[in-house]
Amino acid sequence: MQPIHHSVKCTLMDLVLKQGEGCRTLPLAGHVGFDSLPDQLVNKSVSQGFCFNIMCVGETGLGKSTLMDTLFNTKFEGEPATHTQPGVQLRSNTYDLQESHVGLKLTIVSTVGFGDQINKEDSYKPIVEFLDAQFEAYLQEELKIRRVLHTYHDSRIHVCLYFIAPTGHSLKSLDLMTMKKLDSKVNIIPIIAKSDAISKSELTKFKIKITSELVSNGVQIYQFPTDDESVAEINGTMNAHLPFAVVGSTEELKIGNKMMRARQYPWGTVQVENEAHCDFVKLREMLLRVNMEDLREQTHSRHYELYRRCKLEEMGFKDTDPDSKPFSLQETYEAKRNEFLGELQKKEEEMRQMFVQRVKEKEAELKEAEKELHEKFDRLKKLHQDEKKKLEDKKKSLDDEVNAFKQRKSAAELLQSQGSQAGGSQTLKRDKEKKKTREEKSISDRTYTTAGKTPMVPWALKLFVQCD
Ligand code: GTP
Ligand code: MG
Repeated sequence: MQPIHHSVKCTLMDLVLKQGEGCRTLPLAGHVGFDSLPDQLVNKSVSQGFCFNIMCVGETGLGKSTLMDTLFNTKFEGEPATHTQPGVQLRSNTYDLQESHVGLKLTIVSTVGFGDQINKEDSYKPIVEFLDAQFEAYLQEELKIRRVLHTYHDSRIHVCLYFIAPTGHSLKSLDLMTMKKLDSKVNIIPIIAKSDAISKSELTKFKIKITSELVSNGVQIYQFPTDDESVAEINGTMNAHLPFAVVGSTEELKIGNKMMRARQYPWGTVQVENEAHCDFVKLREMLLRVNMEDLREQTHSRHYELYRRCKLEEMGFKDTDPDSKPFSLQETYEAKRNEFLGELQKKEEEMRQMFVQRVKEKEAELKEAEKELHEKFDRLKKLHQDEKKKLEDKKKSLDDEVNAFKQRKSAAELLQSQGSQAGGSQTLKRDKEKKKTREEKSISDRTYTTAGKTPMVPWALKLFVQCD
């Protein structure tokens, strides 16, 4: 029994089998049940919830945040950026939304500081890096032994809304370059922002100009799919309306007896959801209602697949070997491992050689320094010896001088002591005589000149002289 061919349609009661050339129709006896398979899938998907990731790329103040608020009819947080950013950054926020029992994990990534630098050459790089980083994270999850892809938060960007300034002229080179760099990584939907700033006739010309510039520069923007009959017509029409000219507003005004999102000006009101005023409704329909699943699908099967293929090829994986035989994973792994080990050995050898060379150089440097030190030491030693010799000579001459001086001194002292001995005995004799004369004179004065007093006896005087 052959499996059921996809192109064969089954009714509830008939089972059509394709066998070789002919077809057999088997009437079913009763209800089998596999017609509920789509319902099972729907129920499973609804219970798991969906995720959708939008990236808004555009110059500062072009209305990115306002459009997101308008699209989802809510107020997402987010501070307006300044025009003084040194480079482009990406700000990502994730929200859990719910609409009639269907949960949506919505991630909005916005550029910050895009187009504010004097040199805008590298402005696209952070965006490309961000997109690649999300693909890489998913690939890593896929390559894990224990992967949990059903609970994994898929952060790959499903659509990039590229905001074009309403200049009415042509695309800026920054816009063309950025879209060109992004078109192989994400589904780009170009939109003319703040389209209320441009007149109707100018807008028509502007749209034509943008489309022709995109085509002539080979920029691949996202085309709404026309292969599904149910949406082919609407998608075909909408493709002709690209790029959508949108107006965003967080203000609600009473128009007629209805509250509507609009922008009020002194000369009138622009209604965001009025298709005669702008393409906001077209964008919302295409993005959220009709093609959300296709955007998710394209991201996975086209952009991610391309990234994955390039990455795996870069890692050395191939589908077939040069003889067109299937490439085994084991062989690829072994080949890559050997290549890696070979490179590692080569690197090790290079590093060893470099190390030996560096050691030799250092050794030579040290030897040179040692030689210089020895020479310096010898010079200093000689200097020291000369100095020492000079000092010894000087000491010797000083010692000689000291000895000569001592000799002269002792001779002088000898002469002086001899002289003082002779002079000293004569002086003593003279002093004694002088004293004796003075005493005798004093006694005679007291014996013969003192009136009224008893004179001393001569023997007593004699005794006094002797005792003294
Ligand atoms: P950054 O996050 O700072 O880069 O700015 P943005 O791109 O998020 O712009 P934002 O939504 O903060 O809007 C900037 C200004 O433009 C606000 O004053 C909005 O009211 C105004 N604005 C937003 N959308 C429109 C629009 O469609 N038309 C007009 N005329 N003004 C708009
Ligand atoms: Mg903003």
